[in-house]
Amino acid sequence: MNILILGSGGREHALAWATLQNPKCDKLIVAPGNAGIAMIAECASIDINDGGVVAEFASENAIDLVIVGPEAPLAAGVADRLRAAGFAVFGPSAEAARLEASKSFTKEICDAANAPTAAYGHFTDAEAAKAHVREQGAPIVVKADGLAAGKGVIIAETVAEAEAAIDDMFGGSFGSAGAEVVIEEFMTGEEASFFVLVDGETCLPIGTAQDHKRVGEGDTGLNTGGMGAYSPAPIMDEAVTQKALDEIVRPTMAEMAKRGSPYQGVLYVGLMIKDGQPRLVEYNVRFGDPECQVLMLRLGAQAFDLMQACAEGRLDEAQVTWADDHAMTVVLAANGYPGAYEKGSVIKGLDALPEDSFHMMFHAGTTQKDGAITASGGRVLNATARGATLQEARDRAYAMVDGTDWPEGFCRRDIGWRAL
Ligand code: AMP
Ligand code: GLY
Repeated sequence: MNILILGSGGREHALAWATLQNPKCDKLIVAPGNAGIAMIAECASIDINDGGVVAEFASENAIDLVIVGPEAPLAAGVADRLRAAGFAVFGPSAEAARLEASKSFTKEICDAANAPTAAYGHFTDAEAAKAHVREQGAPIVVKADGLAAGKGVIIAETVAEAEAAIDDMFGGSFGSAGAEVVIEEFMTGEEASFFVLVDGETCLPIGTAQDHKRVGEGDTGLNTGGMGAYSPAPIMDEAVTQKALDEIVRPTMAEMAKRGSPYQGVLYVGLMIKDGQPRLVEYNVRFGDPECQVLMLRLGAQAFDLMQACAEGRLDEAQVTWADDHAMTVVLAANGYPGAYEKGSVIKGLDALPEDSFHMMFHAGTTQKDGAITASGGRVLNATARGATLQEARDRAYAMVDGTDWPEGFCRRDIGWRAL
């Protein structure tokens, strides 16, 4: 088969790596890709948010299946355009992608499906939003409705902080994403991410993970796209997983189908768990980054069969073979991230790192320049390893970090602390 993957992060490097393990893969193209992906697949620089461009490219290259990595092309309708042109696609329609692209839409679907989530109000007017905050008190959560690259959520410790966040959002700091604001009850508990493939009807769980969103050790400091992750998430035991499926995932997926927009692709279910009861924090319509890296290392070649079955509506025949293993990924980021950082520094030592089914250094923001690998983004590398225990996976991942010579980068040294 000829396969096209859209995206350029560590997530897409991991998707490409798993796809290449599968003997069905004859040719793999990743658009636009990065320096690490270019070592294993052909890269093409096309505008992946333009469905017409992607469909034409897929047709010229006789592509059999398109795997969409990030949310932006999904929200822009790239999967719809490809399906209309007759391509098999792993990734939801623009209408179904509203589960990530609009927080008020998700809350409305959860209400209709009776899925447990935080109590909320949604507002298009700052004064009404502030009145609601004063009535509810703090702590309280203020969210821009639309896509804000993970930055549109403010956990306000005081009413004044919440009011300032509301002014900020309606003042345009998040562009059109902040034209509507959702205000939520602050939930306490432990967070976990649950990944479920959905083909419109069948829901197939493929793994759990926990990530570290804060930049600093001990989960302190600014929020980031994620500084590391591990899988499985110990808190997602059988009972919690079953509850999340029965009370949250299946009812919301049935509601989407009932509304004429069945969901097809991976559903990333962000959960808050307290006293054995999961509640929905958010849905994303793609794999998490860096959660995808640990899931792919654990699933290996079967990941491609599962994505193909999902895209072709055959999940009822699919099965996941679980190994009793653990994986961890440690993100190496450019000094200064998530604030301002320099680009262009040279990374050395990568050639000497182990690369097998237990160790992979996935690339995120890297570029090949004059024969060297240079940093070109905030999150740059993902040292990813697997082992019989989380401790073994951790030791292997940090050994890869220590073998990397990049003084302009940093990582957290405590990934997995809660589980270890
Ligand atoms: P989101 O972009 O909705 O995932 O929010 C980012 C992060 O904010 C989540 O991973 C949670 O840590 C936190 N968060 C979001 N909503 C709530 C809530 N209602 N209660 C507590 N924490 C929340
Ligand atoms: N790691 C969080 C995300 O992908 O949204």
